[in-house]
Amino acid sequence: MIIKTAKFLMSNTDYKKCPSPDLNEYAFIGRSNVGKSSLINMITDNKSLAKISSNPGKTQMINHFIINENWYLVDLPGYGFAKISKKMRAKFRKMIDDYILNRQNLVSIFVLIDSRHDAQKIDLEFINWLGSKGVPFGIIFTKADKLGVNALKKQIDKYRETLAEYWETLPPNFISSSVTKRVKEEILSYIEDLNTKINAGQ
Ligand code: GTP
Ligand code: MG
Repeated sequence: MIIKTAKFLMSNTDYKKCPSPDLNEYAFIGRSNVGKSSLINMITDNKSLAKISSNPGKTQMINHFIINENWYLVDLPGYGFAKISKKMRAKFRKMIDDYILNRQNLVSIFVLIDSRHDAQKIDLEFINWLGSKGVPFGIIFTKADKLGVNALKKQIDKYRETLAEYWETLPPNFISSSVTKRVKEEILSYIEDLNTKINAGQ
């Protein structure tokens, strides 16, 4: 897919106020600081579309972008950010859960996982929650440039083994880096294929 236009539309805390659900939508989620905003900028070829920060917790709303006037891309806040109050965390979680469970045009979620870390309870719980609710999702392992080739392979294999304990077939997964831009095309093709299939069925 060639990105011709990528525009920020709006930020919301309530899914009901999001743009009318008339285009296919893909949302990116993961722990704070995992690289969601960087990945969005990478795949849309735009350095400043989504705000990037080295301070976790930068993205605090449901942010809608429109790509090629044809599909919505959504940057969601990170979950499990420790440095906010319990009350705030619960509020974020409810906002995210309501959005995921009620957004009619949501085609797939991409759960981002930092490829350097072993499987964390909070990610597995989130992934399994998506599964229990029947929400289609893919996994993107981020920051691949931070590990050497062998360490990366070892780490991803280990993660896939952990996932295999819960899932008979693994969800689609990608190993990405916003620095080297690896798998940019694969992620875009994956979205394009889904868009083509869905639009053909309409
Ligand atoms: P929140 O909005 O706070 O939840 O964070 P986020 O998941 O949107 O992360 P963001 O894209 O803001 O990136 C967090 C930090 O990680 C920034 O300092 C980025 O420059 C860095 N980063 C993101 N992706 C990569 C990557 O692929 N490689 C490297 N080396 N650094 C990355
Ligand atoms: Mg962000």
